[in-house]
Amino acid sequence: MNRKVSVIGSGNVGATAARSIADKELADVVILDILEGVPQGKGLDMLEACPVEGSDARVLGTNDYADTAGSDVVVITAGLARKPGMSRDDLLQKNAGIIKAVTAEIVKHSPECIIVPVTNPLDAMCQVVYRESGFPRERVVGMAGVLDSARMRSFIAEALQVSVENTHAFVLGGHGDTMVPLPRLSTVAGIPITQLLDQATVDAIVTRTANGGAEIVKLLGTGSAFYAPGSAAVEMVEAILKDKKKILPCAMFLQGEYGIQDLYVGVPVKLGAGGGEEIIEIALESDEKEALNKSAAAVKELVDLLGL
Ligand code: APR
Repeated sequence: MNRKVSVIGSGNVGATAARSIADKELADVVILDILEGVPQGKGLDMLEACPVEGSDARVLGTNDYADTAGSDVVVITAGLARKPGMSRDDLLQKNAGIIKAVTAEIVKHSPECIIVPVTNPLDAMCQVVYRESGFPRERVVGMAGVLDSARMRSFIAEALQVSVENTHAFVLGGHGDTMVPLPRLSTVAGIPITQLLDQATVDAIVTRTANGGAEIVKLLGTGSAFYAPGSAAVEMVEAILKDKKKILPCAMFLQGEYGIQDLYVGVPVKLGAGGGEEIIEIALESDEKEALNKSAAAVKELVDLLGL
């Protein structure tokens, strides 16, 4: 194939994303990890699934960044996952060190790529990648909002007993407990959910969405969610590779948009061959704006701790 995607980290999220990219025949896939044998084994296993899936994607597992050279898109999932009782923010310092080292290698081997960070705490990790890479902001676009809105969409579909395909969920802000799901702009077949569900149900959906990651961490006992995060990352990769100009909620480095300066926060972004090609700015009501500012402040706290 003539497109190449590298996935850094061959754990649960990385392997799920890599397998989906290969299955969908979006690109050749390189999956890299520091663990010896694991990426090689998983990569070979995925390659051997391709004949059954009808995909001619080549999949390679490796410990060597030279194999990632010339990637169009690089997805970063390397790092530590949350354990029960651990917040995303506890992971901050450890994952920042990992992400910094990983970014330096990515840039060295794929200077023209678009990087999609997935590692948590997401917004702060995007800021690490952005600063370390020196890439323009369009080429560092974080995955969080697609996952958060997918969770919200599944809850909306369940509450109304409608197809998930009819649902659209709008989530702004950082990927954390302060995220801002916006029911006013979340719709079913174009109709705002506030016209279809009572206030208590809407509130319950909003709360469940904001706690969506923690709900799964608690159920799993060890590790954190990976099927939906993997799918969400692949939706972004596909939009970039196919230059779809798809508007998705992504973490982008804001430079005055939404009144926020020099900070990664989740906003609607047009994703295409250039990466995050355009930030879509919409007018917010005052309580929504207040919630977004609060969420941005939570991200800023982490970024300040990292000195970024
Ligand atoms: N370089 C490459 N890979 C690394 C490095 C490194 N420096 N450090 C750790 N890894 C690898 C680990 O060896 C492991 O295989 O990252 C992988 C992480 O996999 P998991 O522990 O299974 O975590 P996962 O569930 O995939 O989550 C990864 O994504 O959604 C986020 O919160 C989640 O930050 C976490 C990340």
